This record gives sequence, structure tokens and C-alpha cells, in this order.
Amino acid sequence: MGQVHNEIIPGRVLNSNMPDYDRAVAEFTWEDAERHFSWYDTGKVNMAFEAVDRHVLEGRGNARALLYSDASREEVYTYSDLMERSNRFGNVLRKYGIGKGERVFIFMPRQPELYFSLLGILKVGAVAGPLFEAFMETAVKDRLADSGAVALVTTPELLKRVKREELPELRHIILVGGDPDPDPDQGEISFEEEMASAPSDMELEWLGLDDGLIIHYTSGSTGKPKGVYHVQRAMIQHYYTGKIVLDLQPEDIYWCTADPGWVTGTSYGIFAPWLNGVANVIRGGRFSPLDWYKSIERNAVTVWYSAPTAFRMLMGAGKNSLEGADLSSLRHVMSVGEPLNPEVVRWGEKVYQQRIHDTWWMTETGAQLICNYPGMDIKPGSMGRPLPGIEAAILDDRGNVVPPYTMGNLAIRTPWPSMMKMIWNNPAKYSEYFRIPGWYISGDSAYMDDEGYYWFQGRIDDVINTSGERIGPFEVESKLVEHPAVAEAGVIGKPDAVRGEIIKAFISLREGYLPSAALKEEIAAFVKAGLSAHAAPREIEFKDKLPKTRSGKIMRRVLKAWELHLPAGDLSTIED
Ligand code: WT7
Repeated sequence: MGQVHNEIIPGRVLNSNMPDYDRAVAEFTWEDAERHFSWYDTGKVNMAFEAVDRHVLEGRGNARALLYSDASREEVYTYSDLMERSNRFGNVLRKYGIGKGERVFIFMPRQPELYFSLLGILKVGAVAGPLFEAFMETAVKDRLADSGAVALVTTPELLKRVKREELPELRHIILVGGDPDPDPDQGEISFEEEMASAPSDMELEWLGLDDGLIIHYTSGSTGKPKGVYHVQRAMIQHYYTGKIVLDLQPEDIYWCTADPGWVTGTSYGIFAPWLNGVANVIRGGRFSPLDWYKSIERNAVTVWYSAPTAFRMLMGAGKNSLEGADLSSLRHVMSVGEPLNPEVVRWGEKVYQQRIHDTWWMTETGAQLICNYPGMDIKPGSMGRPLPGIEAAILDDRGNVVPPYTMGNLAIRTPWPSMMKMIWNNPAKYSEYFRIPGWYISGDSAYMDDEGYYWFQGRIDDVINTSGERIGPFEVESKLVEHPAVAEAGVIGKPDAVRGEIIKAFISLREGYLPSAALKEEIAAFVKAGLSAHAAPREIEFKDKLPKTRSGKIMRRVLKAWELHLPAGDLSTIED
């Protein structure tokens, strides 16, 4: 792969706030993290035990675990409460003969019952499969069928999207709210009734480190969504990164805005915070800037983990949404899911007085791998450095490590504790990730600078080649969103007879701006002036909204399909 143009690499280093932290972090090893767990001595493994019961047994049962709110509910649950609820749910599953290794899916909005269920599933040694509530029929069916789920926790409303006649293995439906069908052949039971009569204590199913934990379905560039299967061992890394990247302290009030239908919402919305014993904020309902700011204020959130798309929307919403909200409780802010534009980092410094720390990882990696962690210098636009214990490299297509500043395949030395253990039902897909011996190939392209920072360039297949020049769409998009009129931008390579590809930008405008030919020209000139002539979009199209995944990535392949009048492919992970 070719050289990157140095002049378009933003490399400003912000000052570091905790110079000693880096050293302390480097001395905290996986082994130290392992010693924290009770299984290190007992050999008995269960994620739900470590995340919940253990805090109770060690005298922290009264600490707040779950701070839930939505438009109509406001509830607080302690670790003792979570232990009791999850025991009951585990007993419900046992009563129906559900146990170790079976897949139990959850298809419901973010609300406390989702969390009780997930922990109860883990307590009987079953494998949890969370589904995002916006999934429609085909998406739900594909996942339940592929995983061979035997039970589903859902609501009457969402049950309408479950094609049960096509899911012979799905024997049990646990309905949260509403009345189950009295016909026993339907296999429907009431969550509330069963919970009320289930015993509040239970003997957990003890597992090994390589027994199943969770399956998350994620889309690749081809084919149906893949079931990424994680095992109990992942907890080592959830705990570890909760300490050194999230910087969780016992008194923290932590908010991860991701839904548990996506890996961020489980690894960092459930496991990392509860393994570390902090108070975990869950906000139900839809995103709105004011609602989110009020949630930070009301809960006095100290550590906040969100996504670039959210930060950009907050940025687009402007000052008004911030006025009257007190965000002074915040002490640490992080981002994941897609490139965090330097512009957003600078904006965060201004309005939150916080550097937004970018973190890089994937559904397949199970936990964070390359990060800006507290105490280290942040270079806006860089994903940061590999965590201690993680070896990253940029490889060419034959598997050779390339020199700094050379773009190539972002790869991670295998294994690490939270690495996926299979793609469910698809060993061929699994081995594609490991085609170069000793390495996991991420599918992202990136380069490393001479200080060991990694700079994301795009998915391998998104890199644009125009007139022989290699352009990472992220750089163009980052520049575009620096223009005052631009809220969000997605950039693709459009086939061109003369140049191979030209750059086309799809843009949604900030409030108060109207589309016009003059504005297109102005934006293109802005990129030309800020990056380079060949990085400027030759075509711009304004859109009210850009297609995005729920984890916030602009779906360039959908933009490309629009452009080429092709079918858009699998859209099951698209934001509604
Ligand atoms: C892909 C993984 C696991 C977090 C949620 C997304 C992109 C993720 C970053 C980042 C640039 C990023 C990559 C990666 N991505 N984090 N900090 N900077 N790109 O998980 O849906 O499995 O997506 O998201 O392309 O491969 P996912």
C-alpha cells in the first residue's frame, strides 16, 4: 500500500494531565487483572457472579448499580437488588429446563428488565443474544434462526415481529408486560408472574473461561450478519479496560449511551462498569440533545462514553441545547464506533472542558484495543496507542510489517483475552480474520506515526483512488465537518472514466443553512484549501439525513449504492 500525504495529517498534541498514569498503566498487566477475580482461586467462573453477586458478598450490596430513567420511570437498583432480580430470572429459566450453552435472546427496549434478564441468562450458563429493538422481521428471524435460540425475552409489541412459524427451535417466549397466550403450545409465559413466584436465591452454573457468554450479530461487507461469539474469558479485558481506559473509580457515576443490542452496550454498558462496581446510568427513550445534557446533570455523571455521531449531533444542535444544563460533574469523556473528527475533539475541549478520548475496537475484538487513555497525550484525529499487553501493527497484503506513515491493514497479534472465539455456524468466515498466521486482520486501513499512534484511514474497501492518489474518506469527511454549514458528511469514490474514481460527498447541513450551488462550491473550495486539490469533492449532494448504523457509522456502501443505483444490500443494522 502507498505512502500517506504528510501534510494532511493533523498531529497537534494536547497537554497531558496525569504524567505518572502512563507508567502505572504499563505496570498493570492482564495477570494482575486475573488475580482480581474469585475464579483465580476457586476455578469457578461466571460473569454474572463477578459483576453482581461478588459485590454483595463482599459487603457492597447497598451500592447503587443501575440508575434507570425514561419519560415515565425513574428507578434505582442496588447490587443487592440486581442479585435478587437476576437470581429470580435464572430460576425461571431453570424451571423451563434452559441451561448451559443454550442461546437465549432478548428483544426489547432498554429498560431494567432487559438487564435483569441478561444477568439471569448468564447465571444459568446460557449464552445471551441481545437484539436491537428497531430490528424488523427479517433481521430478527435471521439472527434467531442462525443462532438456534431456544428462548426469547420480549414485549407483546415486539413479538409481532417474530416469525415463530419459521423458528422451530424457539420454544419459549417470556413476555415482559402484557398477557401471554393461554394456549400452552405457544410457549408464552409472563415475566412478571414468573419472577414473583421464583425463589430469590440460586446456585449459579459454574463455567470455564472458554464457555460461552454472548453473541452479537454484526454485518460484514458481504453476506448475512455474522454471529460473533464471545466467551467468559473476555471479562479479564472488560475489567482491565474499565480500570485503565474508562478510569473507573468506586464513586464514579458512569454513562455509556450505547444500546445493548450492540457490543458497546454490553462490554461497556454492562460488563466493564459492573465488574468495576460503579453506578451505571441507563437512559431509555430517544436521543435529544437537551435530554442527554439533562441526564448528565440529573445523575451527576462523571464518566461518559458515547459516539462521534452523537457528539456531532450535539455539536450541530449548538449552544441553545447546552444552556441551562450543568455538565461540571464530567471528568472523563470517551468515544467509539467511527473516526472521531479532530474538529469534534476541539469542540469538546471548548464546550465540555474535556478532551474526548477516542477508542478503537470492534464487535469481533470484544473490548478496547487501541485507545487514548487518561494520562497520555491526545493527538486529535488519532485513535491512540495499543493498550499495554496489546501488540498492533500495520501489515501489507502479504503480512509484512510496513514502516511508519505507510497505510496498510490494521492487525492485532493474537490472542488477547476478549478476542471472539467463533463466528457462529461459520468457521470459514472466522478463519478469514486470521489468514495471516499470528495476526487478526481487522479490515480497517490505518497507518502508525513515529510515536506509535494509530491513524484510521477507512475500511479497506472504502479507500478512494483518484488519479492514482490514495485518499482516506475520513480525512475528507473530517475536513468537511469543519465547514460551518456541514453537520455530517459521507464520502465515497465514484467511478470515473478519466480519474479512476472521483470523490463524491453526501452532506447534511446544520440548522439554518439552505442547499445551493454556491454553497457546494464554497464547501469544495474549503476542502481544497484545507487539505489538497485532489482531496476536494468533485461532486456534492445534500441530503436531509445520512444512512448510519446504530453504532453511528455513516454507511458509505449505502451511499455508493444510491450513487450507482444498485441494491443497498443488508440494511438490518441501519438506524431507522
Ligand atoms: C468498526 C467496528 C466496538 C465499537 C462499536 C463499533 C470502526 C470503531 C473506531 C474509531 C475509527 C472506528 C472501524 C471498526 N471504528 N471505532 N475509534 N475510529 N473507526 O463496532 O460495529 O463492530 O464496528 O468500526 O471501522 O472496524 P463495530
